[in-house]
Amino acid sequence: MTAEILLDLVELDKRYVLDGGLLARLTGRQRVLQALDKVSLTIRRREVIGLVGESGSGKSTLAQAAVRLLDVDGGSVAWKGNSVTRARGKALRGFRRGVQMVFQDTGSSLNPRKTIGRHLSQSLALGGLPRAARPARIRELLDLIGMNETVLTRYPHQLSGGQRQRIAIARSLAAEPELLVADEPVASLDVSLQAQIVNLLDELRERLGLTLLFISHDLALVGHISTRVVVMYAGSVVEEGDPATVLTRPAHPYTRALIAAIPQGVEGRGRSRDAADRGAEGIPSQGCRFAPRCPQARDMCRSLAPATLLLPGGHGVACHFAGQSATQPSTTEVLAS
Ligand SMILES: Nc1ncnc2c1ncn2[C@@H]1O[C@H](COP(=O)(O)OP(=O)(O)O)[C@@H](O)[C@H]1O
Ligand SMILES: [Mg+2]
Repeated sequence: MTAEILLDLVELDKRYVLDGGLLARLTGRQRVLQALDKVSLTIRRREVIGLVGESGSGKSTLAQAAVRLLDVDGGSVAWKGNSVTRARGKALRGFRRGVQMVFQDTGSSLNPRKTIGRHLSQSLALGGLPRAARPARIRELLDLIGMNETVLTRYPHQLSGGQRQRIAIARSLAAEPELLVADEPVASLDVSLQAQIVNLLDELRERLGLTLLFISHDLALVGHISTRVVVMYAGSVVEEGDPATVLTRPAHPYTRALIAAIPQGVEGRGRSRDAADRGAEGIPSQGCRFAPRCPQARDMCRSLAPATLLLPGGHGVACHFAGQSATQPSTTEVLAS
């Protein structure tokens, strides 16, 4: 039995104009970055989608387009079967209650002059909960994130990074969302705290029946919590499938490179400027976008963009040679390197 489709993203396109100055426009020298190139993603109820890819691959752009914080240039966004691609006003507010985001940088979303209690109370007020009902709901939220009431009188700076992230999660839960989009929620935390927050999200999914879109540049982290892994490179989905398959039998050379870089991650800790700054330059406008970095690239890769090949078990791979296992190094070889 397949669960209901919550969010359906179909062929999303997003372009950023990098130099929008008048001279650039007049001389036709505008540089355009294709941050999303026909990206499709279907999220079913209770799924945990792990979206991975190095910095600059378009993960945040996809997340923001998915929750309609960003308008797309093409494609459609549907929530439970209804298009919200161009929703405004009431329809947009209704959709946004069902879908909440958690960000990496929680510090900036908390007001340093307000107590945690005020923050939570305000989130509940925004959701329309009457004042009298808020204290009980706040206790419920604290219980969900594993914190006690002493935190309510504290100010954001009196909390650790991990505690602040728990509060951010509590705030996102205030509206009782069905889908939580967490964009690198643990990227700025210590490794030990990362596991705690990942476990918390997993627990919440269990207790509340949440659906998660969990974004990270760390494939190992994502594999741990996801029911499905989606790998992005330069604005396209290059591989997707269940975590066991993608992690142990990756079929795209880019995914193999990501795995070979575990535990450090291709971009190492934090956000490297490297991949993002490569921007439009390193990415070819025709053929496979990964070809310039691909150890297996052949002539056809430079002229023809690969279609997504569907391997058994819902394993999708956008590589001309994905079906030919002879070209792939063995799993042990990749994991050992
Ligand atoms: N507002 C913006 N204006 C111009 N370029 C942007 C903007 N936001 C993101 N980009 C570029 O789009 C690409 C994808 O970025 P992003 O979605 O943030 O990737 P990720 O979250 O995977 O690091 C990057 O090359 C980035 O530099
Ligand atoms: Mg990002």
